[in-house]
Amino acid sequence: MTNKRVAVLSGDGIGPEVTHAAVAVCRAALDEQSVEWIETPFGNQAYLEQGSAFPEESVQLCDEVDAVLLGAVGGPEELPPDVPRPEKGLLSLRRQLSAYANLRPVKPHPALFDTSPLRAERLEGVDILFVRELTGGIYFGAKERTEDSATDTCVYTVGEVERVVRKACELAMGRKKKVTSVDKKNVLETSRLWSAVTERVVRDEFPEIELESLLVDAMAMHLLSRARDFDVVVTENMFGDILTDEASMLAGSMGMLPSAALGEGTRGLYEPIHGSAPDIAGQGIANPYAAILSGAMLLRLSLGMEKVASRIEAAVDRAVTDSIRTPDLGGSETTSSTTDAVIARLD
Ligand code: NAD
Ligand code: IPM
Ligand code: MN
Repeated sequence: MTNKRVAVLSGDGIGPEVTHAAVAVCRAALDEQSVEWIETPFGNQAYLEQGSAFPEESVQLCDEVDAVLLGAVGGPEELPPDVPRPEKGLLSLRRQLSAYANLRPVKPHPALFDTSPLRAERLEGVDILFVRELTGGIYFGAKERTEDSATDTCVYTVGEVERVVRKACELAMGRKKKVTSVDKKNVLETSRLWSAVTERVVRDEFPEIELESLLVDAMAMHLLSRARDFDVVVTENMFGDILTDEASMLAGSMGMLPSAALGEGTRGLYEPIHGSAPDIAGQGIANPYAAILSGAMLLRLSLGMEKVASRIEAAVDRAVTDSIRTPDLGGSETTSSTTDAVIARLD
């Protein structure tokens, strides 16, 4: 069997704790020989240890591998003001991999309904796939800072919108064939372009798809009142960032949502949607499910290992059903006892 290679950028804070859990579960589920997991430095820690938050060796490795597994970067460490923050490195990595479509599934587990601030009746049947545009918009536009003003520019091209909307539609064709496009077209010119391109792509290329269009402020509300109605939700970079943190509370915790970022090929970047959680870092209590589920997405989408991915997801499902819960879910398990519990449930 050809050896697949995965770059592991575990990063800062709880990043290493949850990423090591994910690699341990993937290794246990796989034939040890078939995937090589290669640790490489990234983040504030990398800066403090070797003077760069995204060292050249890591940049290069990410170009050569079949997939990248990332923990989280950033945190409270004081970096000199002229040093680029590691979050900037993350953005450049997403661009480097042309990973423009960020898939963030939200499917609350019934055994965790009690951990959500929403009532169980609002969570039953919720199964949303967010497709967040990841390499454009206000994150990447020109920035300027003068003494008394600051500017962030939001730019979207027709091509950037077309490709992510197509990806969302293709995914919706394998689901309930419903796409909700979220923008702010009552105010933003980029949103008016977004909306016009989305309508055209759906009409011309995916006539079977039912398209709904919502303004982002209203979407923030609908997500709490009628989450069950959504199937695939496609939106621009910043709206997708914010709405998915909100959506994580449907699933009970930030520690439950995995993600995959893909471009045209099979190479992808996989990361839990949460950050480095400085408030709990180093305590060994971070919830590793999101990272483990990101590992499963990596095996499925970049390495073509559907069966192993499903086995990992089934093992997580069983652990959650058996009330294996870290403190964020109201339990008292640790990261490592949760990881062991998942491994013990691999069939
Ligand atoms: P965060 O996601 O790190 O934490 C928000 C809250 O959720 C905290 O209370 C944290 O304890 C909790 N939480 C998050 N993940 C958890 C887990 N797996 N288990 C248990 N609890 C969990 O967001 P923040 O505090 O706003 O950001 C901290 C740093 O992380 C910032 O520097 C930010 O830029 C960075 N960040 C990085 C990524 C990434 O690298 N992909 C993503 C988001 C934020
Ligand atoms: C995420 C994070 C990142 C983002 C930050 C750390 C740059 O919040 O992956 O959701 O905003 O994309
Ligand atoms: Mn985020």
